[in-house]
Amino acid sequence: MNIAIITGASSGMGKEFAVQLDKSLGKTDEIWLLARSREPLEKLADSLRIKARVIVIDLTDETALKQFEEVLAIQNPKITVLVNCAGVGSHKFFARQSKEEIDAMIQLNITALTRMTMLCLPYMKSGSKLIQVSSGAAFVPQSAFAVYAASKAYVYSLSRALGQELKGRGITVTAVCPGPVNTPFLTRAYEDMSGFGALKKLTMAKTACVVKKALDDCKTGKSVSICGLPVKILYLSTQSIQNVMLKCFRPQPKASCHN
Ligand SMILES: NC(=O)c1ccc[n+]([C@@H]2O[C@H](COP(=O)([O-])OP(=O)(O)OC[C@H]3O[C@@H](n4cnc5c(N)ncnc54)[C@H](OP(=O)(O)O)[C@@H]3O)[C@@H](O)[C@H]2O)c1
Repeated sequence: MNIAIITGASSGMGKEFAVQLDKSLGKTDEIWLLARSREPLEKLADSLRIKARVIVIDLTDETALKQFEEVLAIQNPKITVLVNCAGVGSHKFFARQSKEEIDAMIQLNITALTRMTMLCLPYMKSGSKLIQVSSGAAFVPQSAFAVYAASKAYVYSLSRALGQELKGRGITVTAVCPGPVNTPFLTRAYEDMSGFGALKKLTMAKTACVVKKALDDCKTGKSVSICGLPVKILYLSTQSIQNVMLKCFRPQPKASCHN
C-alpha cells in the first residue's frame, strides 16, 4: 500500500498540503492525516478524493508514537511522501517564557519531527519525498523568538544533512522555509499582534502559494523551498558559506546507503 503522511493536517499549511497532494498524487492508496483535533481532520478527510485515514495523535507523547510505530509495522506501507508540518511557536522574550511554552516548542518542533522521520524512513523507498517544514526563522537568530528560531534552524540543518545522506537511497529531502504565512499559527504564537511588525505584515505569504511552491520544489528534488523574494534574499545572504561546507563534507556513496 502506497501512502502519504502529513502531520499537523488539522490546520494551516498541513491541511493545505493534504488538499494539494490530493489533487496531484499519482499511485497513492491513502493519505494519513495526523494531529490532535479529530473534528477538523475528519472534515478534511471527507473532502478528499483519495481515501484518508484520520490519526488523532499528540506527537509529543512517547506512548502515542510507539503505537504509531506499531501501526506502521502491521500495515508495512510504502511511504511515498512524508510531510512533517506540525509545529508551534511562542513569541516572547526568553525570560518571560514558561517552562511549558519552551518545552512545547522543543518537544514538537525538534523531538517529534526527528522521531517521525526515524519511524517513517524504513518505509520510504527510492522516489519517496520527505518534506520538513522549517521556517525563514531558521536562517538568523531572532530575539523574542529565540527558541522557535533555534528549533527551526535544527529542522533546516537536519534536513540539509539528511538530504545528502539519503541521496544514495533515491529519497529527496526538502526543507520548507517560509516567512510569515497567513495561518492560525500567528495568533497562537503572538499573545499580542502588535508585536507582529509592519515588515512581517508586508511580507506575509498565502498558505496555498507556500505549499504549491514546496510541492513543486520537492518534485524537482530541491533541498530548500523558499516562497517570496524577502525570504530568498535573507537566505542567499546567510547561506552561501553553509552550502560550500555541505558540498565539501558530502559522504562517500557507500556511507549513504543504509536502511
Ligand atoms: N504560519 C507561519 O507564519 C509560519 C512560518 C514559517 C513556518 N511555519 C511552520 O509551519 C508549520 C505549520 O504551521 P501553520 O502555520 O500551518 O500553523 P497551524 O495552523 O497552527 O498548524 C499547526 C499544526 O500543528 C498541529 N499540532 C500542534 N501541536 C501538536 C501536537 N502536540 N501533536 C500533533 N500535532 C500538533 C496542529 O494541530 P492540533 O492542534 O489539532 O494538534 C496543527 O495542525 C509549523 O511547523 C510552523 O512552525 C509557520
